[in-house]
Amino acid sequence: MHVLDTLEVVSDAVDEVNKLKGASADIAWDATSEFDANKEKDAFRKYEEACDRVKNFYREQHEKQTVEFNIRVREKFKKTVRARMGVWEAMEKLNTLVDDSDPDTSVSQIEHLLQTAEAIRRDGKPEWMQVAGLVHDLGKLLYIFGSEGQWDVVGDTFVVGCKFSDKIIYPDTFAANPDSQDPMYSTEYGVYSPHCGLDNVMLSWGHDEYLYHVLKNQSTLPEDALHMIRYHSFYPWHRENAYQHLTHANDQRALAAVRAFNPYDLYSKSDEPVRPEELKPYYQGLIAKFFPEVIEW
Ligand SMILES: [Fe+2]
Ligand SMILES: [Fe+2]
Repeated sequence: MHVLDTLEVVSDAVDEVNKLKGASADIAWDATSEFDANKEKDAFRKYEEACDRVKNFYREQHEKQTVEFNIRVREKFKKTVRARMGVWEAMEKLNTLVDDSDPDTSVSQIEHLLQTAEAIRRDGKPEWMQVAGLVHDLGKLLYIFGSEGQWDVVGDTFVVGCKFSDKIIYPDTFAANPDSQDPMYSTEYGVYSPHCGLDNVMLSWGHDEYLYHVLKNQSTLPEDALHMIRYHSFYPWHRENAYQHLTHANDQRALAAVRAFNPYDLYSKSDEPVRPEELKPYYQGLIAKFFPEVIEW
């Protein structure tokens, strides 16, 4: 074959591959979400009008999330395996919980996980991001494993070990937290140094932090997915821009990840109901790609 003919064959083959790639290519993970274009965003996270269940929840959480508690609970976490089960089984197990911190949701936990994943899937985002949506709240299993209450499982997260940010919802309720009177913990930087990076600060313990530690060594999820999981409730940072004095340039990537993820978590709550049994085969396939059959929880 003439060399030019050969080249043409190769270049045709390249075109073919690119076409195929185009057909199956994902939308970039950080592309703006489209599924929520027509949603009334102001209707979510209405804490001022929230019921007593939500207000009482935050009052208790803000009083009890101290540095001392956070050190103790992390020590305990490292020493124990609470359960061994697969991801779908964990989703079914979680389904009995009603989240006291959530002013928006009346759907069950498994529906919320599937609605989040389905919205990400509908927008054409990559499989690993769909999986992040599918599992992001599985850390709430802590409640079933014997947490002290819901205050150490759900709700927005914030930094402990330095002054409580006034960007946290119901900031006045921190007056009852002993750390707010502590000579070290009540200062702007507390135990931290300027721009030490989020990896070096202690976030209030809950389902985000717990699930991140469970999955970082028991999944093949990329770092962006782990960031979405770890920081999804860290509203004072990802929505209110608090803690700029503690973050490092490296945290920008995590911020982009959690901001790309947040609309799916929040605004999929008003989507059409899902049928878990119908979606199970598809998501079992994804679960098998990213997790071992059994996870140590
Ligand atoms: Fe969550
Ligand atoms: Fe969620």
